[in-house]
Parts: sequence; structure tokens; C-alpha cells
Amino acid sequence: MWPYPKVIAHRGGGTLAPENTIAAMRCGLDHGFRAVEFDVMLSRDAIPVAMHDPHFGRTVRGAGNVSDFTADQLLAMDAGTWFGPGFAGEPVAAFRQILEFCRRNQVWMNIEIKPAPGFERETGTVVAEMTREFFAAEIAAKGMAGGAALRPGEIDPTLPLFSSFSFDALVAAKAAAPEIPRGYLVDRIAADWRSRLAELEAIALHTNHKHLSPGQAKEVTQAGYGLFCYTVNTPERAREILSWGVDAFCTDRIDLIGADFC
Ligand code: G3P
Ligand code: MG
Repeated sequence: MWPYPKVIAHRGGGTLAPENTIAAMRCGLDHGFRAVEFDVMLSRDAIPVAMHDPHFGRTVRGAGNVSDFTADQLLAMDAGTWFGPGFAGEPVAAFRQILEFCRRNQVWMNIEIKPAPGFERETGTVVAEMTREFFAAEIAAKGMAGGAALRPGEIDPTLPLFSSFSFDALVAAKAAAPEIPRGYLVDRIAADWRSRLAELEAIALHTNHKHLSPGQAKEVTQAGYGLFCYTVNTPERAREILSWGVDAFCTDRIDLIGADFC
């Protein structure tokens, strides 16, 4: 149930570049990564942009909520200076720019839908609609339009995967782009994980490796789901969770853990 790459660059370039920017995507690619995870949030005018925090202050200077600013305003903001002077002026990236970058460079995407509080459904819908339109030719070529639930072996590894901590965002994404697979993100695996994945018709569970046990890994993979972990930053830990049957993980240390790690 995991036809995608095993090692994924977290937020584009991990610790080597300002997260969720085009510079980060370029950094991941320069390090040999053809698979990337990034976070997507809506602007006030409902345009998806690459952003992790719903508030300014960490990666973008200032105060206030991302959702109070239009895309034009956000895309003019500096998302690089916080990281280092070499990235001064690196702007906030539009989701669309990242889609284009990844297509141009054949980079697979784990698109994390990261709604600002209160915008869960809207974010899921808009991100899914834009992605579906962007991949319309691929979806049509596979005869997938209509979006029946995927079975093992039917997943197109060239299509991205949506992930989110927001169940509601994924419900909305499923309705708007049923052909694009979903992974449900949880910090800890709760007792209801099977029913949650079933309701989403998800193909994978994404979880924090820090709380995962070998027994849980076995349960998830034996149930026929992909198992993805975030964020694994040492080769020793990566080897350990892979030995438990974890299918894939993202890493901030793209300098220590290569795309061909095994
Ligand atoms: O998608 C995995 C990981 O990115 C989830 O946590 O906070 O880095 O978005 P966060
Ligand atoms: Mg993320």
C-alpha cells in the first residue's frame, strides 16, 4: 500500500533551507530528493500558500494571522530572512508554484493540508480542487474520473498524496478529489484509527515516530495500510522503524539521511 518513495524531504529542504519555500524545494532536489512534504494553508482570499504556522512571528516577521491576509500580500512577504542572510527576500511560495516546480522536476508530493483554525473544510476543498485540476490529464488517462476507492496495486505513484491532522479537511478533500489518495496524520495512534481510516478511505496512517511501538506498526501494516512516520532525523532511528515495517518517513536531515537510504 505504499508505492511512493521511502525517504521524503520534510518541508522541502529540512534543516538546510527556509521551510516551505521554493528555495527549500530546490535544496531538497539538489540533495537528490525526488519526494517532498510541505504544508498548505489558505490566504484570506482562499488561495493556497505554503505555510506551517497560522500566525506570523517565526518564519515570517510580524504579528497577526495568515488567514487575515490576501495571497498577493502573503506572496510579497519574506519567508527566508529568519533562516539566514543567504535567504533574505525568499518569498512565501504559492501552492501552485510548488505544484509546477515538482512537475518540472519530477518530484513526488506529500501535500500536508494545514488549515488555519476554523478553515478546515474550506482548506481541504480548495487544495483538493486545485490539485485535481492540476493532475486532470493524469487522472483522465488512468480512467479514474469518478473516484472509486482505491485497492492495493491501483495507486498511481505519480499522483500526490494528501495528508492532514484535520479529519474534516481530509473529508472535504475526499469529496473534492476522490482520485487523489489520503493519509491520516496523527501524533499518537488512537483506538479509533481503523474507523477513521475507513471513513476517509485512506491508504495510509501517518504518525509521530516518537510514540510508535513495533506492535502498532505491525497492526497498521497487517491491516493493509501504508505507514508513514514524521520526522526522523537520525539514521539509527530510521533503520529501527524500517525494521518494524514502517514504509516511509520524512526527515529534516537530508544531509545525513539520503534519498536512497536503506
Ligand atoms: O507531514 C508530516 C509532518 O510534517 C507533520 O508535522 O508540524 O511538521 O507539519 P509538521
Ligand atoms: Mg508538515
